[in-house]
Amino acid sequence: MMLFCATMVCSMAWASRPGGSNSIGTEAAQSLSGDSVGAAVCATCHKEIVKDFDGNPHSRPELMHGGKSATCGSCHGSGNAHAETGDAGMIFDPARATAKEVNEKCERCHKARNANFENSVHDKGNISCIGCHSIHSAGAPKHLLKMEDPQLCFHCHRNVKPQFATLFHHKVEEGMMQCTDCHDAHGGSGENALPSSTWQSIVCTKCHTSTGGPFVYEHAVVKAEGCTACHVPHGGANPKLLVEADVNAICLHCHLPSPNDATTRAAVPEHFLSAQSHSCISCHSSVHGSNVSDFFLNPKLITGKH
Ligand code: HEC
Ligand code: HEC
Ligand code: HEC
Ligand code: HEC
Ligand code: HEC
Ligand code: HEC
Ligand code: HEC
Ligand code: HEC
Ligand code: HEC
Ligand code: HEC
Repeated sequence: MMLFCATMVCSMAWASRPGGSNSIGTEAAQSLSGDSVGAAVCATCHKEIVKDFDGNPHSRPELMHGGKSATCGSCHGSGNAHAETGDAGMIFDPARATAKEVNEKCERCHKARNANFENSVHDKGNISCIGCHSIHSAGAPKHLLKMEDPQLCFHCHRNVKPQFATLFHHKVEEGMMQCTDCHDAHGGSGENALPSSTWQSIVCTKCHTSTGGPFVYEHAVVKAEGCTACHVPHGGANPKLLVEADVNAICLHCHLPSPNDATTRAAVPEHFLSAQSHSCISCHSSVHGSNVSDFFLNPKLITGKH
């Protein structure tokens, strides 16, 4: 009975702890961790785990001095009753807990980094921190990940794997970039785990800087619909990751079949000459936007005001 009371007090103190570990000192960290028996006691029955834990980022010594390191109890709650009995039902085991319970434990210390996690596709999909991270048996050398990116992501998103094996694709499997170069596993404010909700294409222009402008003459579609109006992000059968093999067909989704619509626009002689036999981009080559032509024309073709 005494033991249970001790456990209750500890876990209540733990539960009332304000978010973030930065503000607490060593003593507080210890009592709040609920780790009243200490790793040495756990070691009597879990020798390997305790030994391995010395090398875990959670027990880096310099952090202990800052009062920020995590002990067994930080994640497992008080181990008193369990250590006495060895009863697996008397300890908090994240592997058996709900996603919400696990996230709450981790977010007490990691809230700041994962401020958006609660709105993320992964949280909504009931994936907790330990869907991707493993504390005691991480398979990747960095960030306690279960596996390395992209294998980690493919593990659950097998459906997108074929897209990276197409003729034209971003070289993720080749190790030249990672899923997390575009996606934010912890949230992001946009759909599809992309970092921005305002203009998702910002993930693309950090590498393809010249496509994002600003331009004197913007192709409105780039800003309005983003890169995916014309490109697939992962990969596909068409060169330049275009959504269709025929470039003209892409343009004609939005532009008139013959731009020479006399009722709304002046006739364009070049369009009569070329009819549909030329690629639109043979003349409109600055398709992402231009500083010299409001029709995004190849500079060589520009006469007069264009
Ligand atoms: C007296 C021996 C003993 C001590 C001391 C002990 N454990 Fe255990 N622990 C066990 C046994 C036995 C199991 C069940 C193992 C199994 O089912 O494979 C277990 C299981 C666990 C589990 C998994 C629970 C589950 O749902 O399967 C966790 C987590 C755990 N122990 C943490 C701790 C921590 C933290 C400490 C120190 C506070 C600790 N143990 C101390 C014997 C002990
Ligand atoms: C940062 C959080 C965290 C800390 C600190 C932590 N654990 Fe764990 N532990 C977990 C999680 C999460 C699991 C569930 C399995 C997994 O995802 O790795 C787990 C599982 C376990 C298990 C059962 C599974 C197994 O591998 O046998 C034992 C036993 C255990 N922990 C003991 C300990 C001991 C002893 C300590 C202190 C040396 C400790 N843990 C510190 C998070 C933690
Ligand atoms: C008591 C506070 C505390 C708790 C609870 C806690 N952590 Fe940590 N975590 C830390 C500290 C401190 C570090 C080391 C930070 C550093 O290296 O700068 C860390 C590091 C990490 C890292 C980064 C490792 C790296 O090398 O980059 C991951 C991932 C992580 N924790 C995940 C988790 C998960 C998942 C949980 C819940 C199961 C959890 N943590 C619970 C304090 C905590
Ligand atoms: C969908 C997979 C996934 C989930 C779910 C996830 N993480 Fe991560 N986490 C990653 C990946 C991938 C990295 C390394 C690359 C990066 O930072 O984006 C990482 C890195 C980290 C780091 C170290 C790097 C840093 O920037 O501080 C911490 C700490 C961390 N995660 C904590 C958590 C916590 C806490 C949760 C739960 C609230 C969580 N993660 C949920 C995939 C995930
Ligand atoms: C443990 C399984 C798991 C892992 C690992 C995982 N995810 Fe997810 N992911 C999910 C679930 C579940 C959803 C919720 C939507 C769904 O069912 O597809 C989701 C949603 C997503 C979405 C949004 C999909 C949509 O249709 O809206 C993206 C993008 C995503 N994850 C990327 C990643 C990336 C990148 C990684 C690796 C860093 C990763 N995921 C790792 C399970 C996982
Ligand atoms: C070059 C940037 C980029 C890379 C790299 C990338 N993605 Fe995506 N991903 C996107 C964009 C942009 C979308 C949204 C697509 C849309 O809006 O049509 C997306 C959508 C998704 C979706 C949801 C739609 C679907 O097809 O199911 C999943 C799941 C996904 N990505 C997983 C991954 C995984 C796993 C990796 C790594 C193997 C990865 N992505 C690499 C940019 C990227
Ligand atoms: C981390 C950097 C990075 C990010 C982010 C990125 N890309 Fe790329 N992209 C590349 C690299 C590198 C290549 C070309 C090399 C290769 O894969 O052979 C490429 C190739 C392309 C190509 C084909 C170019 C050609 O000449 O064949 C297109 C189109 C493209 N990316 C569009 C996008 C879009 C759209 C996004 C956002 C969803 C995006 N990229 C995000 C690095 C990036
Ligand atoms: C209106 C359709 C359209 C939109 C929107 C669009 N692109 Fe393109 N993009 C193209 C076409 C067509 C080509 C092929 C040009 C060629 O073959 O010469 C291309 C080519 C590229 C290339 C290859 C190198 C180059 O500059 O010619 C990259 C990289 C690229 N686009 C990235 C992006 C990014 C990043 C975005 C979003 C900021 C974007 N594109 C938006 C149509 C578009
Ligand atoms: C998803 C729709 C969409 C696609 C696809 C698209 N555009 Fe546009 N385009 C627009 C919009 C919207 C404008 C702005 C129209 C306006 O201001 O009247 C525009 C403007 C233009 C203009 C300038 C017209 C003017 O009156 O100022 C040219 C030239 C142009 N696009 C060429 C192309 C070419 C070439 C392609 C194919 C590579 C293409 N567009 C693909 C939506 C699209
Ligand atoms: C032989 C070169 C050439 C080809 C090929 C070409 N254009 Fe043009 N286009 C022009 C020129 C030059 C102008 C601007 C005329 C002016 O100065 O008013 C123009 C103007 C436009 C405009 C703006 C005026 C209008 O009528 O709406 C649009 C939109 C446009 N083109 C779309 C296309 C599309 C879509 C294709 C492919 C189906 C295409 N163009 C093929 C040269 C060409």
